[in-house]
Amino acid sequence: MNIIKPEKSMQTELLNNFLLKLKILAFLWAIVSWSVQAQNTSTKYKTERIKLNEGWRFMRYQANSDKLIYDVRPAIQEVNDSKVADSKPDEAVKVEAKEQVLKAWILPTANDFIKDPAKKHVPPAGNPTADFPFIKSNFSDDTWEKVDLPHDWAINQAFYEGDKPEVGGGMGRLPSQGVAWYRKKISINQADKSKIIYLDIDGAMSYSMVWLNGQLIGGWPYGYNSYRLDLTPYLKIGSDNQLAIRIDNPNHSARWYPGGGIYRNVWLTKVAPVHVAQWGTFITTPEVSESEATINLALQIINRANVNKKVAVKTEIYALDSHSKPIGKALANFPSEIISIKTGENYLQQTTLKLKNPKLWGVYPSQKPHLYLARTRLFSEGKLVNEYDTPFGIRKIEFHPTQGLIVNGKKIKIQGVNQHHDLGALGAAFNVRAAERQLEVLRELGCNAIRMSHNPPAPELLDLTDRMGFLVIDEIFDSWERKKTPHDFHLIFPDWHEPDTRSFIRRDRNHPSIFAWSFGNEVGEQYTDVEGAKIAKKLHDIVHEEDPTRPASASQNYAKADMPFSKEMDFMSLNYQGEGIRDAPAYQHLKGGIRTSPSYPAFQKAFPDKMIISSETASALSTRGSYIFPVASENSAPVSDGVGGNPVSKEVSAYELYTAQFGSSPDKVFATQDRHPYVAGEFVWTGWDYIGEPTPYYSARSSYSGIIDLAGFKKDRFYLYQARWRPNLRIAHILPHWNWPNRVGEITPVHVFTSGDEAELFLNGVSQGRKKKAEFEYRLRWDEVKYQAGELKVIAYKNGEFWTEEIVKTTEKASKIQASADRSIIKADGEDLAFITVKITDKNNLTVPDANHKLSFSIEGAGEIVATDNGNPADLMSFASHQRQAFNGLALVIVRAKKGQTGKIKLNIKADDLTTTSVDLISKIQ
Ligand code: GAL
Repeated sequence: MNIIKPEKSMQTELLNNFLLKLKILAFLWAIVSWSVQAQNTSTKYKTERIKLNEGWRFMRYQANSDKLIYDVRPAIQEVNDSKVADSKPDEAVKVEAKEQVLKAWILPTANDFIKDPAKKHVPPAGNPTADFPFIKSNFSDDTWEKVDLPHDWAINQAFYEGDKPEVGGGMGRLPSQGVAWYRKKISINQADKSKIIYLDIDGAMSYSMVWLNGQLIGGWPYGYNSYRLDLTPYLKIGSDNQLAIRIDNPNHSARWYPGGGIYRNVWLTKVAPVHVAQWGTFITTPEVSESEATINLALQIINRANVNKKVAVKTEIYALDSHSKPIGKALANFPSEIISIKTGENYLQQTTLKLKNPKLWGVYPSQKPHLYLARTRLFSEGKLVNEYDTPFGIRKIEFHPTQGLIVNGKKIKIQGVNQHHDLGALGAAFNVRAAERQLEVLRELGCNAIRMSHNPPAPELLDLTDRMGFLVIDEIFDSWERKKTPHDFHLIFPDWHEPDTRSFIRRDRNHPSIFAWSFGNEVGEQYTDVEGAKIAKKLHDIVHEEDPTRPASASQNYAKADMPFSKEMDFMSLNYQGEGIRDAPAYQHLKGGIRTSPSYPAFQKAFPDKMIISSETASALSTRGSYIFPVASENSAPVSDGVGGNPVSKEVSAYELYTAQFGSSPDKVFATQDRHPYVAGEFVWTGWDYIGEPTPYYSARSSYSGIIDLAGFKKDRFYLYQARWRPNLRIAHILPHWNWPNRVGEITPVHVFTSGDEAELFLNGVSQGRKKKAEFEYRLRWDEVKYQAGELKVIAYKNGEFWTEEIVKTTEKASKIQASADRSIIKADGEDLAFITVKITDKNNLTVPDANHKLSFSIEGAGEIVATDNGNPADLMSFASHQRQAFNGLALVIVRAKKGQTGKIKLNIKADDLTTTSVDLISKIQ
C-alpha cells in the first residue's frame, strides 16, 4: 500500500467535493442500515487472535543436520571475531548452489511487500521435501523436548570457553548456531470452516521455514522481522494439523548475540473472508493543535471470499487509559462507508476526521503519552465480520536544523540510548516485564529516547515505548550488500531488502513513539561513493513510499558531509564522528581505523536545513564497581591492558574515563554537544549491557558499554548521565568505593558526579578542597587523595547554596545477605517475573563492594527460578544456574510464577559464612 500525500490542485479539490457528497450519502445509508445490523451483530465473527506459544516440541541437531537449506552460504575462510566495530565492511563472496535449495518456495512469502508485480515470486509447483519425516503428522516427536514460546534455545546452555570457541565472544559464546525444529499440532473445528486462518510469527531466529501437514508453505529468513503465512489452503477442518518449523541460525551472522529459535510470540489469527489486511491501517495526524487534530486513516480491506462483497466499514475512536484499555464511549467516528469489493481484491479506504481538544502523545516526563484507539468494524450481510484495533497517538514532531526536535511545539533534547534486543540472562526470548524493567531503569536515568540498534524490536516493546512516552528510532539493518560478518544480512539483501523494509514499516508505522526510521547502521556502502549512495536512495525511497510522514536516515561513522551517501538522508544520523574519532590526545598512538576531528560543523555547513542527531556516542566501557589504578589524567582514553583494563580478570575500570578505540568518554561527548547546541541530542552506546561484543575482552560473554550492567545494576556512569539529564534531581555520587586495605597511603583518586556545580570532599572529616566545575566539565576530581579507611563525604552546592550530600564508608567484613524484589506480587500467567536483587552486607547493612561469595538459591511454592546473573561480563557460569558468585557485592535472581498456580513463593538464599535470607512473593491471577 502506498500512501502518498495528495497534491492540492483545483482538480483534486473538485473531485474531493464530489467524493465528499457521495460519502455523505453513503454515510446516511450506513446509519439506516446500522440500526438493523446492530441487532444482528454477533461476537463469534470477531477476529480471534490466539497465542500459539504453549506445548511445542523442540529438537536441535547435535551433529549433522538435514539438508533442507534455504540457500548455500559461503564457506567461512577466516574469522576475526574481535574486529574493532568500526572496521571497514567487505565485499560479498559469491556462491552458486549446486544442490537443491528451498529458496524458491520461501520467496513468495514476500510477495505482499514487493511493489512491482513483475518482481513478485511465483511459487514453484510441488512439495520438494515431501518425504522428510519431521514434517509428517505421523512422526513421533515424543522424545523431543517440550518447550513454550518465546524460546531462545541457547540462553540456558553452557558458555563456550577457551581460545577457539565454536561461537566467539562477539556472538556471546552461547550455542545460538545451528539447525533446529519446532513441532506442534493445532486443531481447527467445524465452526471455523469458513474462516481464513493465518499464522503470525513475530520473530524467529533465523531462516525459518514452515510446513503444514507435510507441505512447505513459506518462511522468512531475516530473524528480526515479523511475518504472516496463510494456513487456510492446507488445513484439515475438524482434525489435527501438524505444524513443523525449521530454524537455521548461521554462526558468524552477527556482531552481537542473536539468540536462536522462535524467540517472540506466535499467533493464530482467525478472520472472516472479508477482513482488514495484515498491518492494514495507517493513521496519520497531519494537523495538530491543542484545540483540534486532523486524523487520516488509510485502511486496506481484503475480500478472500469467492464472491463479491458489499461491506459496511465503520471506524470509531476511543481514548485509551494508561493500561491501553478503551475509556468509555467512542469519541468520534470516521465517515462510515458501504463498499463493494470484488472477490480476491483489496480495497483501500482513505478517510479523515477532525477530533476536538485532542490529548496529545508526548515525551515523558515533561509531556504525557496519551493514546487513542481506532476500532474498525466490518459488517457484511448484516453481521459484524471483522474487528481490527489500531492504537495510535496524536502528536506533532518537527525536525529543526538549529533547534533540534520539537514535539507538540516544545523543544525536547534527545537524551537517548541504544539498546540491543536481548534481555540479559533471559536472552532473546521476549518478555514484556523484562523489557518494561529495562525501560523503567532508563526512565530513572532521565533517558527519553531509544534507538533500536540495529533491528526491528518485538512489537510489544513499541507498545511499551508508546505507553511510557519514549521517543524511538526504529532501525532495520546493520549491513546491506557489503558484509561485516561472513553470514550476515548481506547474503539475502538482493531478495529481501525490499520486503523486509516494507514489512518493517507497515508493522510499526502507527506507533507514536517512533519519530524517525533508520534503514542502516555504519554500512559498507558509506565507502563506495555513488554506488553506495544509489543503494541508500533505493532504501530511502522504499521507506518513504511506506511512510511519507517520518524522516529517514542511515547512521554514518565514516561518510563525511561532502560524500554522496550523506545527501540521501533526511536528517544526519552520526555515529561518533560528531565528537571526533581517535581525536583526543590519549588516542594519538592508535593505528588504523577511522580518525576524524569533530564533524558537526562540517555537516551543519553542508546541510543547513537538516537536523543532526548523534545516533551513537561514547562507547565508553566499564565493569560495574571495579576500579583500576593508576587513573588516566585525561578526560577520555582508549582502554588497553593496564590502562583502565585488567586482562586477567577481564575488567574495565569504572572511573568511567575509558572507551573503545573510536569512542569518547561521556565527559567528552557532553562537551562537544554543549559546544554545538544545534545538535538534537545523543543516543549513548549503550543503555544496558548486552550479550556479545565484549570489547575489549573477547574471552568474556557480554558487553562493557552499558550505563547499566547486564543484570540491571547501575554503574557509576549512571549518575554522570543522571546529573546531566535530570539536573533538578539532587544527586552527588562518589567513586570509587572505600574498601582498599592494600592501598593505605596510596593515591586513590576520588571523583564525584553531581547535579550541583561545586562540591567539597572530606576524608575522615578533613577537607580535601572545594572544587567547581569549569565550563565543559562534568565531573569533579580529587586526584591526589591518599587512601585511609573511614568515611568519604561530599557536600555539593548549586549556585553557591547547599544542594545535597553523600557519604561512602569503608565497610566491616561481610556477614549478611539482603534481598529485595522489584515487585512482590506477580501474575500467575507463566510470563510475569520478579527481579530479586541480592546484596552482601556487613553488620551495619552497608553493601560490601568487593564481596564475591558464592550464593545458592532454592525456591518453594508457586514459582520457579528462571535465571541468575551478577552483571560481570566475564562470568561464564550458565545463566540457568541456581548458584551464582556475587560480583562486587551484588547478584540477581529472576523468578517466574508458574502458570495458573497461585499462592506463596519463597526464594531462599544462602552462602558460606553469611546469614541466610529469603524473599517472599505472591503469585496471583489478576
Ligand atoms: C559501533 C556500532 C555498534 C557497536 C559499537 C560498539 O560502531 O555501530 O553496533 O558495534 O560500535 O562500540
